[in-house]
Amino acid sequence: MLSSKSVVLGVTGGIAAYKAAEVVSRLKKLDAQVDVIMTKNATRFVTPLTFETLSARPVTTDTFLREGSWEVEHVALAKKADLMLVAPATANLLAKFAHGLADDMLTTTLLAAKAPVLLAPAMNTVMWEARATQENLRILLDRGVHTIGPDSGLLACGDVGAGRMSEPQVIVEAAVALLLPKTDMAGLRVLVTAGPTLERLDPVRYLTNDSSGKMGYALAEAARDRGASVTLVSGPVALTPPYGVEMVAVESTTDLYNVLMCLCCEQDLIAQAAAPADYRFATPSNEKLKKQGGKPLILELVENPDVAREVGERKKPGQVLIGFAAETSDLLANARKKLQSKGLHLVVANDVTQEGAGFRVDTNIATLVSKGGEHSLPKLSKRELADRIWDEALSIRLGLSSQG
Ligand code: CTP
Repeated sequence: MLSSKSVVLGVTGGIAAYKAAEVVSRLKKLDAQVDVIMTKNATRFVTPLTFETLSARPVTTDTFLREGSWEVEHVALAKKADLMLVAPATANLLAKFAHGLADDMLTTTLLAAKAPVLLAPAMNTVMWEARATQENLRILLDRGVHTIGPDSGLLACGDVGAGRMSEPQVIVEAAVALLLPKTDMAGLRVLVTAGPTLERLDPVRYLTNDSSGKMGYALAEAARDRGASVTLVSGPVALTPPYGVEMVAVESTTDLYNVLMCLCCEQDLIAQAAAPADYRFATPSNEKLKKQGGKPLILELVENPDVAREVGERKKPGQVLIGFAAETSDLLANARKKLQSKGLHLVVANDVTQEGAGFRVDTNIATLVSKGGEHSLPKLSKRELADRIWDEALSIRLGLSSQG
């Protein structure tokens, strides 16, 4: 599958370095040629021999090189690479690469390379969330560098949070997508909604829904990678906007409704992964509400517009509408009801009580429900699921155009 492709894999010094061995072995199974560059610190975690054996190629390490000899070699590796992959990518590597430092073989090669770059960051949560790291990441994303992960979970240091390197399989999927880019969405205009909406009660309190926005962001990224022009309408989330995507930030369901009413008719495909609040406060206060001296506080809620339904009513011929149904019971019956009542072509149904599905996690277990039937998918990364959703949506689009 990747027989003519060359991947230069940089391995930096983090505990996840051992997982890079599986990345090499998976790339080799797909027939890619893999050249590994290890930083000096990476060699403290894994031996070069491991990578040499798996890649069947000499491994470049700074420790074994004579002063200065890498000035020549980095050009050779940078030139041959179809993809520069760094897994794990430490905070130090992100900082150096963001600022163009080139003081070892890996950073020198990265600076000289013209191929796409994919980084799989891995570090302690506090380091990942540090302003310096996030600013470096922003610089890299603005430059068109691709990233995968990090995932959230239990880290080697015992902390729980974001910073764990993505699984090797997911990294390899992202690498393949960059090496063999699909262009089946080129020329299509796509709108994706993501994240929760937020309804203010007073200046310090609000009502919201549980949603990390990860599914919507994965959909936007996948459509962009397949050549679409993407608008991402997002509620407040803690995610970095994908490079090359037009972002529209919204807060309340009313904002989301107004944006969609403006933009929906220009789109070829619309995927509504947002979790809009169904209600807003009838009389939000401009002042912070005070306690009622022991008396109950009665708040009145009024229903928000159902954005998906309104978009469904304005559907253009040939336009494909995708909605989500996150349910805790009667999954398929509820999904079919939403397909009908909101005028959707496809509903991505997921039972959020299942482990590995729903909020905050990086995976999802979904059933695609359309007029044509149901298609249950295994547990997939949100990015992989995003691609399956677009595959299905494109085939529905083809069906619509053949009906005339
Ligand atoms: N949705 C919407 N506007 C709303 C509520 C939901 O556009 N006010 C969209 C979501 O983006 C999603 C789909 O409708 O694509 C289903 O969302 P969900 O919250 O499951 O549906 P509801 O219509 O709110 O139904 P219920 O809460 O009764 O299950």
